[in-house]
Amino acid sequence: MIIEVEGLRKSFGKVEALRGVDFSVPEGHVLGMLGPNGAGKTTAVRILTTLIEPDGGRAKVCGLDVARHPAAVRRVIGLTGQATAIAPDLTGFENLEMAGRLYHLGKAASRQRARELLQRFDLADAGGRQAKTYSGGMLRRLDLTGHPSVLFLDEPTTGLDPRSRVGMWGIIRELVAGGTTLLLTTQYLDEADELAGSIVVIDHGQVIAEGTPEQLKDRIGGDVVEFSVTDRARLGAAVEAVASLGEGNPGVDLDAARVQVHAGGRGSQVLVEAVRCLDAAAVVTAGMALRRPSLDDVFMSLTGHAAEAAAASGDGTAKARRRDRGRERGGM
Ligand SMILES: Nc1ncnc2c1ncn2[C@@H]1O[C@H](COP(=O)(O)OP(=O)(O)OP(=O)(O)O)[C@@H](O)[C@H]1O
Ligand SMILES: [Mg+2]
Repeated sequence: MIIEVEGLRKSFGKVEALRGVDFSVPEGHVLGMLGPNGAGKTTAVRILTTLIEPDGGRAKVCGLDVARHPAAVRRVIGLTGQATAIAPDLTGFENLEMAGRLYHLGKAASRQRARELLQRFDLADAGGRQAKTYSGGMLRRLDLTGHPSVLFLDEPTTGLDPRSRVGMWGIIRELVAGGTTLLLTTQYLDEADELAGSIVVIDHGQVIAEGTPEQLKDRIGGDVVEFSVTDRARLGAAVEAVASLGEGNPGVDLDAARVQVHAGGRGSQVLVEAVRCLDAAAVVTAGMALRRPSLDDVFMSLTGHAAEAAAASGDGTAKARRRDRGRERGGM
C-alpha cells in the first residue's frame, strides 16, 4: 500500500471535518475520493500532504507516517490544487528549470528536462511566457510536470472547460501509466469513473461507500434508457420489444406511456439495441434518452438525502453549486 489511512479524524473548532476515515491505495492505482462541498476531501488531502496534522488516527504515505516524518513524505509526493508551487513571475521554462535545480540536476540537464517536459505537457509554445499569464488548464499542466511517485490531485478539473478537462484526463492517465500512484478528489462521478480504479464516497467526514466504479453504479441502479410511446395502444408491444435488453423487467408508466429499461453499466449499448428492437417491432417512440447515474443519484441512493454543502448555503441542487464553483475558480 502506498497510501494508508486509518481512523483519521480532524476538527476545526466545532466542525468535525473528518470523523474516522479509512482507505488505502496500492502502488500504481488511482483512488477517486468523491464527495460534495464540505465532505472533508481537501482536509484528507492536506493531512496526507503534511500541510496540517490529524487530531487522531494514522496516515502513511510510502510507509512513512505523515505526522512523524513530514519532510520525508514531502520528498515523495506531489500536490496540485489549492497549494501549487508555481512561481507566477517566472516563465514556464524557468519554473521547470528551477524545479530541476531543486532535484539537484545540473544546469544543462535542468534545461534539457524543462524542454522535454514542456513538449510532453503540451506547453512548448507557452514556455517563454510568465506563468501568471497561463490559463487555468495550462497552470495545472505545468503543476503536474513534477512527476512524483505519489500524487494528490484536489479537484483537478473543477472550473476547466470541457476540452481542457479531457486534456487533463489524458495527462493524468499518462502519469498513471508511468507508475504514479494517485489520489484524486472530485465532485464528478464521471471523472472518478473515467480515471479511478476504486472510489471512496465521502460525506460529512465519513466514508459512506467504497468499491470499483462498476460496483458503485450497480449499487445505485446504473444507467436507465427511457422513452415514451407515441401511440399508447402500442405500449404493450414496446415493453415486449425491450423486455430482454436490460436487467429485470422494464419500468412502465402507464399514464405517460413511458418505459424505462434498467441498463446497469451498459447504457449506450442498451440504447442502441432498444432503438433497433423498437424499430423492428414497428413501435414509434419519442424522447428516447439515456440517463446516467449522477453524483446526485449516488447521494440520494446512499444517504437518502441530496448532496448538500456542509455550510448550509440554503439552496438548490448540487449541480447548481458545481456551476457556481466552476465560475468561482474559473481563473484556475
Ligand atoms: N481551516 C479550516 N477552518 C475551519 N473549518 C474548516 C477549515 N478547513 C475545512 N473546514 C471545514 O471542514 C469541513 C470539510 O472541509 P473540506 O475543505 O475538507 O471539504 P471538501 O470536501 O474539500 O469540500 P469542497 O468540495 O468544497 O472543496 C467543511 O465544513 C469546512 O468548512
Ligand atoms: Mg476541497
